[in-house]
Amino acid sequence: MEKKIVVSGIRPTGNLHLGNYFGALRNFIRMQNEYDCYFFIADYHSLTTHPHPEHLRQNVKDILATYVACGVDPEKVAIYAQSDVPETAELYLFLNMNAYLGELERCTSFKDKARQNPNNVNAGLLTYPSLMAADILIHKADFVPVGKDQEQHLEMTRVFAQRFNHMYGTEYFGQPQAFNFGNNLVKIPGLDGSGKMGKSESGNNAVFLTDEDEVIRKKIMRATTDSGPTGMNQEKPEAIANLFQLVRVLCTRDVYDTFDAAYNNCSIRYGDLKKQLAEDTVRFVAPFRERIREILADDAYLEKVRRTGEEKARESARRTLAEVRHIIGF
Ligand code: TRP
Repeated sequence: MEKKIVVSGIRPTGNLHLGNYFGALRNFIRMQNEYDCYFFIADYHSLTTHPHPEHLRQNVKDILATYVACGVDPEKVAIYAQSDVPETAELYLFLNMNAYLGELERCTSFKDKARQNPNNVNAGLLTYPSLMAADILIHKADFVPVGKDQEQHLEMTRVFAQRFNHMYGTEYFGQPQAFNFGNNLVKIPGLDGSGKMGKSESGNNAVFLTDEDEVIRKKIMRATTDSGPTGMNQEKPEAIANLFQLVRVLCTRDVYDTFDAAYNNCSIRYGDLKKQLAEDTVRFVAPFRERIREILADDAYLEKVRRTGEEKARESARRTLAEVRHIIGF
């Protein structure tokens, strides 16, 4: 039986952190054996915010190296840069012909970004969803592993696919679905007391896979806490629950239980908890950091990974685009 196709993209906006690892990367590694996977770096998309060329180049490399360091296998998966598959841009053009201003303007992510950055409301930002649809439809994906924040984009992809089919009287595009990780999705909170890791722009909210030991220790020691429980068996407020969630993921069961008991009988010292969490996080991150560094030092290898991914992705993209052009009447 043919393998189902999975497509996922990540914007190259900086180093990857523990939230990326537990949220997406670990699941990519599980998926790569069962599905035909295309994991790309959305460097076209990143132009919506005008990155400096040097940063763009480096960020793309960083993500490539991090994927491989975390165990995404370039022999099994096509790992590539979106801009290496220019067929995507042509499909984007076609999809834009049937994307309506009203629906693009109503998109939540567009409204958010337009509000945050009123001086840079460019057409790329407006048509972000049709570019994302092109990423997905260019490989005729069955599944897209995305979080809640991308569900609306995926829904728009289905609308564009359906509209294309209707317009040309075909059944050419399917309806890509969100890939549901179910219980495998581990939530990683940030260090600043509220929300997900990486959500705030401040680098102190996240532990990056490239952080040095000392940086990790500092960030964790500075994580938001409160003045401590005032009664037995209190419910933990968000900032404290977040720290405990990190302990759950990164420390042993014993450590978790010990601090949990200490919280419940009001003998907890957050400093001790943070010290333990910091050491366990250092132990977890260090091997990734070293591996990322090794890979980044090997330009020839990185280039090979990228070209292998590009070749595989373009083969699939060319096929789709040839068929789409034919359907359209070119
Ligand atoms: N919009 C996604 C994000 O910000 C990144 C992305 C671009 C993507 N194209 C995609 C994700 C295609 C999945 C499939 O996270």
